Amino acid sequence: MIGGMAWAARVRDLRPSATLALNARAAELRRQGRHVISLAVGEPDFPPPKAALAAGHEALDEGFTRYTPAAGIPELRKAVAAMMQRELGIACSADEVVITVGGKQALFNLMLALLDSGDEVVIPAPYWVSYPEMARLAGARPVIVPTQAEAHFKLSPEALAAAITPRTRLFVLNSPSNPTGMRYTAEELGALSEVLRAHPRVWIVSDEIYRKILFDGAQHASIVQVAPDLAERTVIIDGASKAYRMTGLRVGFAIGPKPLMRVMAAIQGQSTSNTCAIAQRMALAAIQSEDDGIAEMCEAFARRRNRVLEVLGGIDGVRLPKPEGAFYAFPDLSARLQNEDDVAFCTRLLEEEGVAVVPGSAFGAPGCVRISYAVADEELEEALTRFVRALG
Ligand SMILES: Cc1ncc(COP(=O)(O)O)c(C=O)c1O
Repeated sequence: MIGGMAWAARVRDLRPSATLALNARAAELRRQGRHVISLAVGEPDFPPPKAALAAGHEALDEGFTRYTPAAGIPELRKAVAAMMQRELGIACSADEVVITVGGKQALFNLMLALLDSGDEVVIPAPYWVSYPEMARLAGARPVIVPTQAEAHFKLSPEALAAAITPRTRLFVLNSPSNPTGMRYTAEELGALSEVLRAHPRVWIVSDEIYRKILFDGAQHASIVQVAPDLAERTVIIDGASKAYRMTGLRVGFAIGPKPLMRVMAAIQGQSTSNTCAIAQRMALAAIQSEDDGIAEMCEAFARRRNRVLEVLGGIDGVRLPKPEGAFYAFPDLSARLQNEDDVAFCTRLLEEEGVAVVPGSAFGAPGCVRISYAVADEELEEALTRFVRALG
């Protein structure tokens, strides 16, 4: 809750990012000389593709520093469309793509374009922290549907059907998932599609920003591949932040039906305009390069994921479904924690052991914590030792 008297109704219940306070405290402890390890990070610890860095220098040298079209440079929109076709087999043209200020703005513009007050947005929990807040900012009501660790945090078709009402306007799907690392298989997406087919008013946003970060040879499945008939009311969210390790450069992609993309581009044209011109050229180079950095990163993440599973998976009262992608593990500690909730545990872990992880409550899943393993192996090892000690 943001304090103050005279703010607009839409921000009265806005929750600031849960990790901010945590990171501030971690920084404070570091200043005091403590060795603090943060497993709270939401970005890969790997550099962008070399081709992207070279393209950035080149764009600067060329003086490519002016406004671009709000929806992005045509070459990049075209390259994203071609990538959708090449990698997912989804037919797509450049005018079905909008280039945004990170995946975040793609999601935000989508909600502004679709939602009216009174509309409901179905969001499975654990969810990425921004979905409910964005829905509320757009005037709509988030309808949170819990899932369980035993079911690998996956939403069942029955639970989806039960959550949809005549007011439902949007369903948020995120695979691979932040915060759980879970991914839906094609079969599971097929079952969810069956439910969605019966509700033509409901749009689907499929946040696939982690789709290239998968382990053990797992293949990504998109709902648009599985249910092409739903493409006319589905928007895919993708971007350069995670796969291409370009978080600070702020390049996201929205891929969806032309009329909606036009509206989203118009919203962008009246708010931020284009994302950074140079960053767009960098994203273009990243897409067009043979980037073996992704494979190297996935290998490291898979190795670290295995360590987290080895260390925490065997502890009594810790339920930890095996993450299949992204760089997060999401253990459910509720059977283990005594006399303290997830927030108290995370606070104690930071104060006593100097390890930062994000409480599950921030993701709508109290009793759990999110561990990011986008840190060096040695740091992870040390952090896990401290984590186990704090668990007692
Ligand atoms: C699930 C999910 N979607 C979207 C985003 C937005 O990423 P960005 O705006 O950095 O592209 C993130 C970033 O953490 C995420 O985890």
